[in-house]
Parts: sequence; C-alpha cells; structure tokens
Amino acid sequence: MPRTMKAAAFVRPGRIELREKPVPEVGPLDALMRVTTTTICGTDVHILKGEYPVAEGLTIGHEPVGVIERLGSAVRGYREGQRVIAGAITPSGWSNACLCGCGAQDGAGTAHGWKPMGGWKFGNTIDGCQAEYVLVPDAMANLAPVPDSLTDEQVLMCPDIMSTGFGGAESGGIRIGDAVAVFAQGPIGLCATAGAKLKGATTIIAVDRVPERLEMARRLGADHVVDFSKADPVEEIRRITGGRGVDVSIEALGTQATFEACLRVLRPGGTLSSLGVYSTDLRIPLDAFAAGLGDHRIVTTLCPGGKERMRRLMEVIAAGRLDLGPLVTHRFPLDRIEEAYDLFSHQRDGVLKVAITP
Ligand SMILES: NC(=O)c1ccc[n+]([C@@H]2O[C@H](COP(=O)([O-])OP(=O)(O)OC[C@H]3O[C@@H](n4cnc5c(N)ncnc54)[C@H](O)[C@@H]3O)[C@@H](O)[C@H]2O)c1
Ligand SMILES: [Zn+2]
Repeated sequence: MPRTMKAAAFVRPGRIELREKPVPEVGPLDALMRVTTTTICGTDVHILKGEYPVAEGLTIGHEPVGVIERLGSAVRGYREGQRVIAGAITPSGWSNACLCGCGAQDGAGTAHGWKPMGGWKFGNTIDGCQAEYVLVPDAMANLAPVPDSLTDEQVLMCPDIMSTGFGGAESGGIRIGDAVAVFAQGPIGLCATAGAKLKGATTIIAVDRVPERLEMARRLGADHVVDFSKADPVEEIRRITGGRGVDVSIEALGTQATFEACLRVLRPGGTLSSLGVYSTDLRIPLDAFAAGLGDHRIVTTLCPGGKERMRRLMEVIAAGRLDLGPLVTHRFPLDRIEEAYDLFSHQRDGVLKVAITP
C-alpha cells in the first residue's frame, strides 16, 4: 500500500486544492477504505465559500463509496476487499445521542461541552473522503456492505442526499394520501420529493425555478411543479389543494423566504419539516403561525447515518423502488476535482451531482 495519497484539502475561503497527504494509520476500531467513487455536496460548497468554517488542510467530503483496504485490530464482521459505503454522519453507536435514537447528534451535549451536529465528522472534524483513502471511525457501526447487484453510482446518493431527503419526509410523518409541498429541488429537495412519494403522499408539489430540476422532480414523484419565478408558490399550493393547504411542507434550501412559505402553505395541524442549513436567524410571522395556536409542528433533521440506515437505503434501490442514478449528471477523476467544484458550485451545465473517481 502506498504511504501517501491524493486528497482535496480546504486551504482558505475560495480555495480547495488537491494535495499529497499521508495515508492514515488505522486504530483498533477504525477501517481504512480505498475510495472508488465519491461526490461533492452543497455543504462542501458552503465550506469552499467560507460560510462554514473547517480547519486549514482538512480533507473535505462526506459521501464515500469504496473497498475495505485494512481493518482495525478490534473490528469484527467484515473482510478486507469488501465493497462498502459509510454514511456522511458516522455515529459511534455508544454515545448518549445514539442510545436516545438520534445518532446524527452523536457527541452533542457531553461533559466536554455542547456541540450540535456531533455525528457529522467526515470533512468537518476529521479528514473526509475526497481522497484516495479515508479512515472510517467506529467501523462496526458505520460500514455497510454494498450488494453485488448495485454499482457505485447507484449507491452514491445513500450516504447523504438520499438519507437526508428521505429523513425530511420521514420526520414530517407523511401519511398515505397526504398533500406535501417541497420547497427547492436541488439534490436534497429531489430526494425529499422521492421520499414523499414512497411514504404514500398523493399530491406532491415541487417548487423551484430550474427547468431541468422541475423535470427531474416529476420523474421522481411530483404531481405538480411550481416555478417560483413565474407564480407565487403559496397561492399556487393553496389553489392546488382546494384551499386546504398541505399536510406536510418540506424546506430544502435554508432561507427565511422558503421557511416562511412552508409555514404559510400548511393546513392547521400540519408539519413543517426543515432540512435546509440556515445562515441567519429565522423569523416566525405571527399570522402564519396562527399566534401560536395553529397546532403546527416544526421539525428539523440532520442526515441519519450508521450502517443500518445505509443498508435500508441500498435495499430501496436494490428492490427497484427508486433509481437515483439520473442525479449523476457529470463525472470527473479526482485529479480534476477543482474543475468539478467550479462546475458544481456555479450550477453550470444542468449539473445535479458529480461522480468523482480517485
Ligand atoms: N439537513 C441535512 O442533513 C442536510 C444535508 C445536506 C445538505 N443540507 C442543506 O440542504 C440545502 C439544499 O441542498 P442542495 O444541495 O439540494 O442545494 P442546491 O443549492 O443544489 O439547490 C437549491 C435549489 O433551491 C432552488 N431555489 C432557490 N431559491 C428558491 C426559492 N425561493 N424557492 C424554491 N426553490 C428555490 C434553486 O433553484 C436550487 O435548485 C442546503 O442548505 C444544504 O446545506 C442539509
Ligand atoms: Zn452533505
């Protein structure tokens, strides 16, 4: 095995560059994964722009598909050479958060301090997977074997996009026959739309303005699409639902405008399920909130991780319930990742997700 590897490191706001770094040492509970395919997330773009701070030199990326190169001495139940994925969020399996059923918040609220999003480690608090190799912590809680029938690209959305989007639909508690509005149809919103369909919603309204994204929303399950640059989505959604409003609205962007619109389209007693990452304080308008008496629920979700979550998501694909392959619109070797960032961050050329192959 080589001693060094190529890895995409954060240098400073506006600059992520490919560097030569040491291949990580494997601790007893870790596994070293040789990355065969990975991708770039909208959150990596927040990091690139300096909107989300990480340490200088940190390897970015949290969506790994690969092969087990080496197992830690205490890891049982896997073999080297096995094809695996790990979730973007890597819960330990034994923290208080994990044992409360909320592994995404692993490590939050310990005697050492309060740290929301503690389970998000790759490309945040430890080196990530836009590299030839990545060290997976707590391997026995996080490595999920990939069924032979599935290609790398077929499972590439499981670690983050699919888990998050589905998580939004699940946290919203969608029931058979529900009306659901999904604000924003980036990769996250598209997976929320697909999740709403799988949960049994029968009126799914997808909001965006990019024609390719609205088209993809229809393919993945939207019954109606609303171009917010041409019509007021709140009025359109009220019209489509015969004035009732939706049972569940899903926010998949992270802005005041979309959060507020999500509140305004809810029926009394409906649920606002929020997925976006916000960068300013939110304001809750009194009228849309029915002065606090609307029986609304507002829930948030950080991408669920862990091997059992990954197994289930791959099962959805293997069972033919959903094909997210079409979300991969562009392909780059790791050597050209800087170009891939440029294309992805400017949303050029109809890009949805890029596949990066070391
Ligand atoms: N909760 C989580 O665990 C989690 C995980 C990953 C990403 N995220 C966050 O989810 C959000 C979406 O990520 P993405 O990669 O899909 O984003 P993206 O930037 O690819 O897509 C955003 C979409 O929003 C559309 N849009 C812009 N203004 C709009 C408006 N007013 N109404 C409706 N649509 C509008 C854009 O046209 C675009 O298609 C980001 O904030 C990201 O950081 C959250
Ligand atoms: Zn992400």
